[in-house]
Amino acid sequence: MRIDVLTLFPQAFESPLSCSILKRAQEAHIVEIVITDIRDFAADNAQHGLRHYRKVDDKPYGGGPGMVMMPGPVFDCFEHVCKLSPEKGRVFLLTPQGQKFDQRKAVELGGENRLILIAGKYEGFDERIRIGLGAEQISIGDYVLNGGELAAMVIIDVVVRLLPGVLGDDTSAKDDSFSETAGGGLEYPQYTRPEVFRGMKVPEILLSGDHKKIAQWRRQQALERTQKWRPDLLEK
Ligand code: ADE
Repeated sequence: MRIDVLTLFPQAFESPLSCSILKRAQEAHIVEIVITDIRDFAADNAQHGLRHYRKVDDKPYGGGPGMVMMPGPVFDCFEHVCKLSPEKGRVFLLTPQGQKFDQRKAVELGGENRLILIAGKYEGFDERIRIGLGAEQISIGDYVLNGGELAAMVIIDVVVRLLPGVLGDDTSAKDDSFSETAGGGLEYPQYTRPEVFRGMKVPEILLSGDHKKIAQWRRQQALERTQKWRPDLLEK
């Protein structure tokens, strides 16, 4: 899979992409993540040469607060990444106006060969960006971030985790909370050593070696926790 991110803050991606599972997935060539700076495509870039003059946003027509991402630099940046790799991809604007991202959406996106994520800053995107690029809109939750960068990182993290070969043999996403095997609900409780910690014991059943009973107990626990903490998931 290839993931392109178009952003005004490429440096924000450096550390999340360079450690742990995301790092390994790239090293193993399971995913290629390419970050491109939209500001490099600002029209007045050549005239002034200074970062300060590389204008990518402007005041909204009709008035109102804040600044809006201009279409020119985003289109030019988009066309540049399309030339870097001709593979067709699904294009997403990261915005609180988008469809809510969840585990099911992550599974769906994991089946794509290419994703192009466009992170905006300021008050939003000129509407012609969405229309002209045929972009879908996606949100990670009902709150407003300062920009789409953290949302892009969340989506990358969740989607890449699900790609075959990314998690080792001893770890797996298949029983995760919200997964199909968890019935879309929460995961069962986990324990590791020691057997007794500050007077709290590991449930006897987990030490029994009876795998059928353990599986049954886990299903029951998962259901109870979901009923108690996230009943909304059962209604779905
Ligand atoms: N940009 C600002 N807020 C956002 C959100 N909730 N999801 C995705 N992108 C955003």
